[in-house]
Amino acid sequence: MGEIKEKLTDWQKRTANIMNGGGEKYIKKQHAAGKLTARERLDRLLDSGTFVELDQFVAHRCTEFGMDQKDIPGEGVVTGYGLIDGRLVYVFAQDFTVIGGSLGEMHARKIVKVQDLALKMGAPLIGLNDSGGARIQEAVDALSGYGQIFYRNTLCSGVIPQISAIMGPCAGGAVYSPALTDFVYMVENTGQMFITGPQVIAAVTGETVTAEQLGGAMTHNQLSGVAHFIAANDEDCLAQIRRLLSFLPSNNLDDPARPAEELNTFIPDNSNQPYDMKDIITNIVDDADFYEVQPYYATNLITAFARLNGKTVGIIANQPKVMAGCLDTNASDKAARFIRFCDAFHIPLLNLVDVPGFLPGTDQEYSGIIRHGAKMLFAYSEATVPKVTLVIRKAYGGSYLAMCSRDLGADQVIAWPSAEIAVMGPAGAANIIFKGDPDLANKTAAYIKNFSTPYQAAKRGFVDMVIQPSQTRITLINAFAMLASKRESRPAKRHGNIPL
Ligand code: HXC
Repeated sequence: MGEIKEKLTDWQKRTANIMNGGGEKYIKKQHAAGKLTARERLDRLLDSGTFVELDQFVAHRCTEFGMDQKDIPGEGVVTGYGLIDGRLVYVFAQDFTVIGGSLGEMHARKIVKVQDLALKMGAPLIGLNDSGGARIQEAVDALSGYGQIFYRNTLCSGVIPQISAIMGPCAGGAVYSPALTDFVYMVENTGQMFITGPQVIAAVTGETVTAEQLGGAMTHNQLSGVAHFIAANDEDCLAQIRRLLSFLPSNNLDDPARPAEELNTFIPDNSNQPYDMKDIITNIVDDADFYEVQPYYATNLITAFARLNGKTVGIIANQPKVMAGCLDTNASDKAARFIRFCDAFHIPLLNLVDVPGFLPGTDQEYSGIIRHGAKMLFAYSEATVPKVTLVIRKAYGGSYLAMCSRDLGADQVIAWPSAEIAVMGPAGAANIIFKGDPDLANKTAAYIKNFSTPYQAAKRGFVDMVIQPSQTRITLINAFAMLASKRESRPAKRHGNIPL
């Protein structure tokens, strides 16, 4: 065999070995667990044939515990770049079939390289996590690797969208890389995140809990708020990530002038009767299509991406169907984080308001509703993207301000005739003003007629226009079109101090 041919054969052998990951036995185990392999995942995530792999031949240099004899194909992680809907993205996919996808020094270095590239190129980074955590044999080198990843997660924050999918174990300090990214997906039954696992918990606190109960997909979507999306399986997860990314560049066109007559009669006569805010969202956005973020967490407030005339907006909406749409600690956190993501990525904000107030109770006060609610005020005030507020029904007191009133910098405030912008609910207000008055009932009715309306606020210019609900879509489209060239700056400073 000639020398060149020999080199080619050698290359083929090396490449085949790497492409085979942990080998048949481990791939079978991966599939039996209901999981795709790292390469299969990337195949489904990216536009067909666009994946370009980097650092295939990177190898560890650990010599402890017999590691010098151990071949770890691809260092247990597949990294590179490709396209999603024709747009450049950077990716890494941990390969659980190779030494449990555990993270050693060089595994981390591969991830760091795509983080640096994504930051330089201004393209999103997607991490598919499936790993036994720090590679035990590599000890502090592995820890250092995590530290470098966390550091870059933070540098990238607000510059590029960072998306994490938890498609297998993700335990110990390893959870903090996903936690530092913008959106966390979890796959049901296979994705698990926790700082300390069930065995440690049993030993330390005596609690008995399964790994799924402790850190499964629903736990983090519903209880802890750590995750933003849940997926039924790997395929669903990867398809959802593609969908989320589609909201960053707009690509849908819809008839901007489409009126929605049904909205004119949508709001119930009784102001305390709930309705589903999602029906209104469906009615006003392009193609009745919106993608909800954290749909299982703090469901009294909706955060979602949608398009208006082809352009993405971030929607923050009270949900009267749940806790009458009150703001509580979790809803405040959910809203504030979403607002800041949108502001960082020039996504205009649409605020749909039907809020009776902050949730009363010792539980809320003790858990710091003052501190959490302040995050919303801070996030809205700090955001310089176009902000449009639509008051649908209730907008009472402090919660009216917290949902981005004119004074918190809303560029346009629009109200439906059903809006009730007031310092508090009308019954409560009348009870205080007309306390002891024998004509209380009539006076309350008169108060409701005069003050439970959008017109007091409109008189002062706090509301720019009161519109027919059927005209909402075109009004919003016009408002955002008018605001497209918005320029607003803030005083130079190192950074603010959001009440964390
Ligand atoms: C080295 C590891 C490993 C690790 C798994 N493997 N995790 N090797 N370091 N962290 C290896 C296993 O030894 C095994 O190799 C192969 O990967 C597959 O693992 P299994 O245990 O057979 O898989 P499974 O039964 O599915 O269990 C998965 C698991 C378990 C629950 C993740 O492997 C596990 O508990 N691993 C250790 C988790 C851990 O304690 N990690 C360190 C946390 S500390 P063989 O050759 O036998 O097939 C940490 C700190 C980070 O992460 C701090 C950052 C700041």
